[in-house]
Amino acid sequence: MAANPYAVAAGLPLLKLRYHYQQKQQSQDRTTLEHRYDWYNVLGCTLPQGRGKGGCNFHARDKQYPPPAPWRVWLLLTGRRWGKTRAGAEWVRRRIEEEGARHIAFIAKTKADARDIMIEGPAGILAVSPPWNRPHYEPSKRRITWPSGAVATIFSADEPDQLRGPEYDTAWADEPAKWLHLNDILNSPWSNMQIGLSRATALGLPAQVVATTTPRSIKLIRDLKKDESCAVTIGHTNENLENLDESAKKEIVERYEGTRLGRQELAGEVLEDVEGALWQLAKIDELRMPKLNGVTLDRVVVAIDPSGSSSETASEQGIVVAGRGVCECKGAPDTHGFVLDDLSGHYTPEGWARRAIHGLSKHEGDRIIGEANFGGQMVEATLRAIDKDVPYTAVTASRGKAVRAEPIAAFYEQGKVHHVGTFEKLEEQLTTWVPGDTSPDRLDAVVWALTELLSSKKSIAVY
Ligand SMILES: Nc1ncnc2c1ncn2[C@@H]1O[C@H](COP(=O)(O)OP(=O)(O)OP(=O)(O)O)[C@@H](O)[C@H]1O
Ligand SMILES: [Mg+2]
Ligand SMILES: [Zn+2]
Ligand SMILES: [Zn+2]
Repeated sequence: MAANPYAVAAGLPLLKLRYHYQQKQQSQDRTTLEHRYDWYNVLGCTLPQGRGKGGCNFHARDKQYPPPAPWRVWLLLTGRRWGKTRAGAEWVRRRIEEEGARHIAFIAKTKADARDIMIEGPAGILAVSPPWNRPHYEPSKRRITWPSGAVATIFSADEPDQLRGPEYDTAWADEPAKWLHLNDILNSPWSNMQIGLSRATALGLPAQVVATTTPRSIKLIRDLKKDESCAVTIGHTNENLENLDESAKKEIVERYEGTRLGRQELAGEVLEDVEGALWQLAKIDELRMPKLNGVTLDRVVVAIDPSGSSSETASEQGIVVAGRGVCECKGAPDTHGFVLDDLSGHYTPEGWARRAIHGLSKHEGDRIIGEANFGGQMVEATLRAIDKDVPYTAVTASRGKAVRAEPIAAFYEQGKVHHVGTFEKLEEQLTTWVPGDTSPDRLDAVVWALTELLSSKKSIAVY
């Protein structure tokens, strides 16, 4: 087999640990175990078939090897389930075992993600660590310690302040494209991490960070792709298919194959803004709130956009929950809209009625509203069959869809609508719909909801 550059890098400390471990083991399971934890294939694969179908799948694929130095950031921009978290965890292992990293930062979107994915997950650091170099995890101290004395501290991007102060030579950022607060110029988790890393050169080892993420079209990702000190690996979910079970394949590939979003979720592509679209993802992101942050809502509605047919149909029922309240995000109090939930999907009539009624009670909503023009009677009758007293108002469009959507898009432009959380499919519809195309159901539902909540000169008449 070809010369393996990482074989040269195999450091002495690791060999020593491995040696001590070997003394205690039977030769049979020792060989198997060494092979199993030999991610960079330093020892050379000894199985007859080598990598590939039916053969050995203990080792990294070519793209899961760190790119040749020098780089400061290695950005793995890949489709879902490609094996990026595994590549990140294995790289951390190598930094510690072979390059002598001592101060490591693990950063995830939330504390729970750090624990469930980066540390305890099936591709996390505990799962990939060999028995001769097992780290000790102390959840309450947000800390992982290796036998060499290397220490990793766990951070949540939700609490960017914590990232100020400490120094590290190594950082692993999982799913940074989904982190909140990236737009806080003074306190973004990504820039706070950079501060800790830039100080770390004093520690001897050149600082490096691996960022493993499915892309979104946000500034951080676009900037990193242009950055000369950033090495980018782009990967397609298909490259890891042989390591996924049937249900994972079905869930991901069938859901996204052939769609625009699939280019992002499967192929790792950073999608460009759609020309002529009324909404831009950057704006939605800028206004996004992780939680309601103390805003009191004075009115909450659930808007239903029924699809044409009640039977099997290609389109979905749009069901969106939104509220209205006085917000001080710009200093002075002003009435803003808050998108709270997207419950849209393919349902039977009884199914969507239950979903909408559930949404109403979950968000302590005041009223369900639905479009009357088209199947208006049907919406009310279907809801009443489930709950005869449900507060319901039929609304009707006196003007065309584009005319209704534009003032709502303008509210976003003015910074008056916040998404409380991330609604991937709804946001995809908002950012790709061009007036003139048939408007998608989730978009219609959010336009109904926000028109009801925010429009003073209503373009809709209420019965
Ligand atoms: N080269 C490989 N050989 C064998 N198994 C692999 C390889 N790369 C990844 N895997 C396995 O594939 C599965 C998915 O990997 P991982 O969780 O790292 O993917 P991901 O891209 O982070 O997925 P997600 O989109 O869910 O975050 C894991 O079980 C992982 O161990
Ligand atoms: Mg992952
Ligand atoms: Zn092998
Ligand atoms: Zn606001």
